Amino acid sequence: MSAEQPVSWPGGLPGQRAATPDAPWNDVRHWMRPGTLQLQSLPPLSLYIHLPWCLKKCPYCDFNSHEWSATSEPGQPLPESRYLDALRADLEFSLPLIWGRTVHSVFIGGGTPSLFSPGSIDRLLGDVRALLRLDADAEITLEANPGTFEKDRFRAFRASGVTRLSIGVQSFNDVHLKALGRVHDRDQAMAAVEEAAQAFDTFNLDLMYALPGQTLADCEADVRTALSFAPPHISIYHLTLEPNTYFAKYPPALPPEDEAWDMLDRITELTGEAGLQRYEVSAYARAGHRSWHNTNYWQFGDYLGIGAGAHSKLSFAHRVGRPVRVREPRLYMERALAGNAVVSADEVPRKALPFEFMLNALRLKEGFSLQQFMERTGLPLSSIEAGLAVAAQKGLIERDAARVWPTDRGFDFLSDLQEIFLAD
Ligand SMILES: C[S@@+](CC[C@H](N)C(=O)[O-])C[C@H]1O[C@@H](n2cnc3c(N)ncnc32)[C@H](O)[C@@H]1O
Ligand code: SF4
Repeated sequence: MSAEQPVSWPGGLPGQRAATPDAPWNDVRHWMRPGTLQLQSLPPLSLYIHLPWCLKKCPYCDFNSHEWSATSEPGQPLPESRYLDALRADLEFSLPLIWGRTVHSVFIGGGTPSLFSPGSIDRLLGDVRALLRLDADAEITLEANPGTFEKDRFRAFRASGVTRLSIGVQSFNDVHLKALGRVHDRDQAMAAVEEAAQAFDTFNLDLMYALPGQTLADCEADVRTALSFAPPHISIYHLTLEPNTYFAKYPPALPPEDEAWDMLDRITELTGEAGLQRYEVSAYARAGHRSWHNTNYWQFGDYLGIGAGAHSKLSFAHRVGRPVRVREPRLYMERALAGNAVVSADEVPRKALPFEFMLNALRLKEGFSLQQFMERTGLPLSSIEAGLAVAAQKGLIERDAARVWPTDRGFDFLSDLQEIFLAD
């Protein structure tokens, strides 16, 4: 089998293909075997932890999130303790693949992680610290939804070691929150942000724009309200209709594209005036408050993802692997506790690496260094020279001797720019 072929790893479970009959997915010798890539050093490593439950599934959401009431006996609490046992087992089985490496950031995402009690988050971070070498000043983010916490819960998360809260506000307008099927209202969103600002030195607000029935003035009002809390970081996403969601089946009327572009221009202006710089397509931060964890993704760093449906990207001297965990929470718990939650662990084919790198790195306003491209992919620069020339000729990137970055036009037509690096 050549290094380019996708590999699925076995675990003795039905339905799994075996790359080699007796190699478990966490057998480091398999990942270390010779290959055609030459990575001189390994990139920084982050940890992603997925907590998969929500109070209610939002009609636009294609994340691996599950309504708790739909999967439980009526009146049963979340199986927090069993899920934490599964996460610990999952992490223990993953250790051989990241042996000796320091973890620089942790992101507890979902789903709705703030449904878990502060005691559970404390136990989870205790397990992480016990099993991994965590940087002393690691960024530890937790996603929280308004309407899923009582007073002082955020402070308790802070006391457990969470350093950064990311709040899923989406909008401060009750009409749009309703159209999005959110469980919270404007007052709850305001209360959540206020509490986060009191408990955390750094926090993020997630907003969406181009919402059903939203006007430019509505969008501006949302951004102004968000900025009134002086947030160190805001992420603002254009609402997209994702396949296999309720909105894909019953699409709501959305603002026309030219209006959505006007909204984006206004968002960038208003955030800029408030001292937040657009450093990534959807991310705006004050100096010193960029998300370390997300920046590591965008710089094609490594991450171990544990939890239901979590994806990982792990580098070795001659290959880059992408293990994926089983999606369904109950099955995940069963399999993780039995020692194998991984359903596939493909290797990124050599010819797909330039595109995978660009998919991430060109999202950053500052782009990437050519040195970083070689370090993170193990490929020579000659593998992207033709693509860079085409992109520069179309006015989508600029470059100097050391770096490449997207132009404003490149940012506006990002998928066209990224596609230039797709292998034939
Ligand atoms: C992983 S989600 C979950 C965070 C949290 N559970 C919540 O919904 O507030 C992270 C963010 O992605 C954004 N998002 C989710 N689905 C989206 C969609 N279809 N289009 C645009 N943004 C979306 C939302 O802003 C959301 O806060
Ligand atoms: S709360 Fe967040 S993760 Fe849960 S369904 Fe809604 S958008 Fe998806």
